[in-house]
Amino acid sequence: MTPRVLSGIQPTSDSFHIGNHLGALQNWVAMQETHDCVYFIADMHAITVEQDPAQLRQRTLSSYAQLLALGIDPNKSTLIVQSHIPEHAQLMWVMSSITGLGEANRMTQFKDKSAKGGTSSTSVGLLTYPILQAADILLYQANAVPVGEDQRQHLELTRDLAIRFNTRFGEAFTVPESFIVKGTAKIQDLQDPNAKMSKSSPSGCVNLLDPLKVTEKKIKSAVTDSDSVVAFDPVKKAGVSNLLTILSAYSDTAIEDLVSSFAGRMYGDLKKETAAAVLTFVEPYQAKVDSYLTDPAELERLMRTSAVRAREIAGKTLADVYDKLGFVKA
Ligand code: TRP
Repeated sequence: MTPRVLSGIQPTSDSFHIGNHLGALQNWVAMQETHDCVYFIADMHAITVEQDPAQLRQRTLSSYAQLLALGIDPNKSTLIVQSHIPEHAQLMWVMSSITGLGEANRMTQFKDKSAKGGTSSTSVGLLTYPILQAADILLYQANAVPVGEDQRQHLELTRDLAIRFNTRFGEAFTVPESFIVKGTAKIQDLQDPNAKMSKSSPSGCVNLLDPLKVTEKKIKSAVTDSDSVVAFDPVKKAGVSNLLTILSAYSDTAIEDLVSSFAGRMYGDLKKETAAAVLTFVEPYQAKVDSYLTDPAELERLMRTSAVRAREIAGKTLADVYDKLGFVKA
């Protein structure tokens, strides 16, 4: 059987950025060739911190349209909005009942986020966030979950909970492999090339939906170094190496070939070519996103079709779990 892969992304920004794209989403697209894929917009995770309702709705639709524009094909993959599938919340309740409070308290992402917000603004949802994530994964019997390093601990918890349930109540869940995506590009902040690209640093972050002029300007203002040789060395030449990584990805050219083509040329050329390559990708992308967003009926149809397929799988898992727990059949 084709192995199933599952991943989710929160609708917490107006646009995906090139770090999301090259670091994760490009891989989501590629995995459609080899896996049965379930991808979703994690709107229920998003509300663990305060969201403006109108903005959340817009961002959810835009994220969905952006995933389609990137090449997630709803005929091949299941592409859903998490809140459309009630089984996520239902299974989460069950999983929360077999999670220790200490276990949840130990999650570093929770500790970081709650330390920043303080006790009064930290929601219980932030604490149970990883348990909802476990439910997302286990509902679909996913074999593999491609995520970044920051999600490793949540995946370990998911595996622990799956094994715990299976041992106590009987085999209900596939225990997923936590595979941290390798071989995909790590994109750094253009202004601070030693930090990962993130929306919290707008001038160093290239959003796929930024106006073309803005993108061009951001790339041309990227921090490099006082040297003048185009070479790939992420430690000593973080800024230049980051530009090479981006250019390589969007021009489909190996880094070593780029390095030789820039022999004797200056950083200005590197920036110009990088900007041009990014714009070549971004321009048709933006047109596709627009065309999906201007046809809400079609978006709705796609969301609904995927939701039906997803609920078939999720409903089966939940029914089995309820039965094993000793819940009386409704
Ligand atoms: N927590 C993930 C993130 O912020 C998003 C997410 C929610 C997710 N549920 C998931 C990722 C299930 C993988 C599998 O990146």
